[in-house]
Amino acid sequence: MRLWKLSYTSIAVAAGDQACADAHSICALAQDYNMLHGITGILTLHRGRFAQVLEGPETAVRQLMRRILADPRHHSIRIAADTPIVKRRYADWHMAFRDPKAFITDQLDDMLEQTAQVVSAMNATWH
Ligand SMILES: Cc1cc2nc3c(=O)[nH]c(=O)nc-3n(C[C@H](O)[C@H](O)[C@H](O)COP(=O)(O)O)c2cc1C
Repeated sequence: MRLWKLSYTSIAVAAGDQACADAHSICALAQDYNMLHGITGILTLHRGRFAQVLEGPETAVRQLMRRILADPRHHSIRIAADTPIVKRRYADWHMAFRDPKAFITDQLDDMLEQTAQVVSAMNATWH
């Protein structure tokens, strides 16, 4: 089973504090399901938008994404990444709520690590 990463953004239906409460309750309620299905990841909320990263076996990630797509608490879902991965970035979190800055910093670290891996793979091929 391939290890998969799927990330997306969406628009929260609720506004302000209610959206924030929704995000925290989603994370709390996601723990059991995600643990059972081998899903890890992070969720954030910024300016009325959710952003989430899901990691896990491809089939489990896609099944969860179908449930998330049907959830009336958000709409206008835009997939940002839908790709195989070599290892999990959020192995310790079955779904953690992160503040937007931490979320973005983490994603940037992820991109930089991937670039470094590509460069070192290219160097290993050429030398
Ligand atoms: C932005 C967002 C992220 C969500 N993330 C998860 C998640 O990681 N795991 C999970 O089990 N449910 C998550 N949910 C909740 C699911 O959409 C769904 O409500 C939940 O799986 C229960 O589904 P059910 O009502 O069909 O039993 C999320 C919902 C939203 C709006």
